[in-house]
Amino acid sequence: MDMSWLKQTQSADEYLQHAYEIPAELPVLPLTDEPFAARWREVQGREVPDFLTEELKLAACDFVWQEKKSLSISFAHTLGGTLPVIATGCHEDFRAMEAVLNGREQSRELPPTVNAFTIEARAELVYRHRLLLLNRAPYSNIPAEALGLSTEDWMERSQRLRLRHECVHYETLRLLGGMRNHAMDEILADALGQIAAFGNFDADRQRLFFGLEKGRDTCIGRLSYYCQRVALKERPKVQGEKAQVSGRVLTVYFSRGGNTDFPPGVDAVSGASIMKDKETLIGNAEMIAAMIHDAAGGDIYAIHTKEKYPADYGATTRVGRKELDENLAPALVGPLPELADYDVVFVVYPLWWHTLPMAVQGFLEHYDLHGKSIIPVVTHGGGGIGESIEKIKETTGAQLPAEILDIYSSDIPSARQDIAAYLKRMKLD
Ligand SMILES: Cc1cc2nc3c(=O)[nH]c(=O)nc-3n(C[C@H](O)[C@H](O)[C@H](O)COP(=O)(O)O)c2cc1C
Repeated sequence: MDMSWLKQTQSADEYLQHAYEIPAELPVLPLTDEPFAARWREVQGREVPDFLTEELKLAACDFVWQEKKSLSISFAHTLGGTLPVIATGCHEDFRAMEAVLNGREQSRELPPTVNAFTIEARAELVYRHRLLLLNRAPYSNIPAEALGLSTEDWMERSQRLRLRHECVHYETLRLLGGMRNHAMDEILADALGQIAAFGNFDADRQRLFFGLEKGRDTCIGRLSYYCQRVALKERPKVQGEKAQVSGRVLTVYFSRGGNTDFPPGVDAVSGASIMKDKETLIGNAEMIAAMIHDAAGGDIYAIHTKEKYPADYGATTRVGRKELDENLAPALVGPLPELADYDVVFVVYPLWWHTLPMAVQGFLEHYDLHGKSIIPVVTHGGGGIGESIEKIKETTGAQLPAEILDIYSSDIPSARQDIAAYLKRMKLD
């Protein structure tokens, strides 16, 4: 079976759901040091390249160090334990040190704006040792004048900021189980870095660091790097052009939104079906139904199953599959609406396993729909209407329009216009 629809581009909404789970019980802080930290303390009183070569069998003496005097190893005391910090005095040395720690003979190209790493070393004797590698340079490549500081002052603050920033990454890693090149991680690390360097957080300063300009919605600076794989979508608008529809109108919908038990904090939500709008979780079909309701007026009804679907997207697909295989419609929460009271009935649902979700089939089977006209609207992850329309015809005998509107999940932001245009073509007035 073609499963390509499961691999969807990450939307901005999904991207912004990133958060770490806070452990139920907080450990005693700071955490105990990782075992490798002790090894680095033996540097005391020795030249860095000598120590690296003699004690850790790294090829440090094979490199020519431009600013050998600036090389130093110190220790950062983080909430996640003590970390060795290697400082370099110029970009060339910084790149060379990165190669040494990773067991490479040659340094690689790195943009001049990259001046810090939380390294997980790859060279043999220091394999998986975590270290901070910091180069002396203005933070985020921002010139001192942009901040109204002297070069020397800005350089000092840059070092403090960079150090605290990298410590935050290590802290999230050890305390919360992850560190990522993600805008959320970065803003947290920068905020604490700003406090370490300036004593406060300043939004204008942050804009400078991220490469954002007030009033401009494009970014070519650091932030764009963290958001590389995100497909930016406009926020869907529910309100728009109204359609002329005569008679009584009902929009019925079934959606993951409203039928899923989400744990507090939405990070556990996976799959592209859920859009987060402030504090509300809205499913795609739910959003489309709201748009149709706005365009066509009348009443709106959500199909709710008695048992909720799991928060995990993959788990929901498995439950959906099981329902289908067993031809078992889940029990629904009542009372159900009186369809006979309506002249125009829209039925909005997501495509599940190329067909109609069993919950929707079960709902439709409650009624005698022979000859009754209903207007299905399908949302999907690339599969179009699948076999769902055939299924509705077969199981209900209802009359369906010749043109069925299907909305790809990534097209929801522009769906309001598509709905208005579709309703015009349908001539329901
Ligand atoms: C159980 C399940 C099965 C799915 N099967 C398909 C499929 O066969 N083809 C497809 O294109 N999308 C499939 N999807 C994706 C949904 O149709 C799509 O994300 C839809 O926009 C979700 O709407 P909702 O947020 O209202 O639930 C499936 C989703 C789920 C949860």
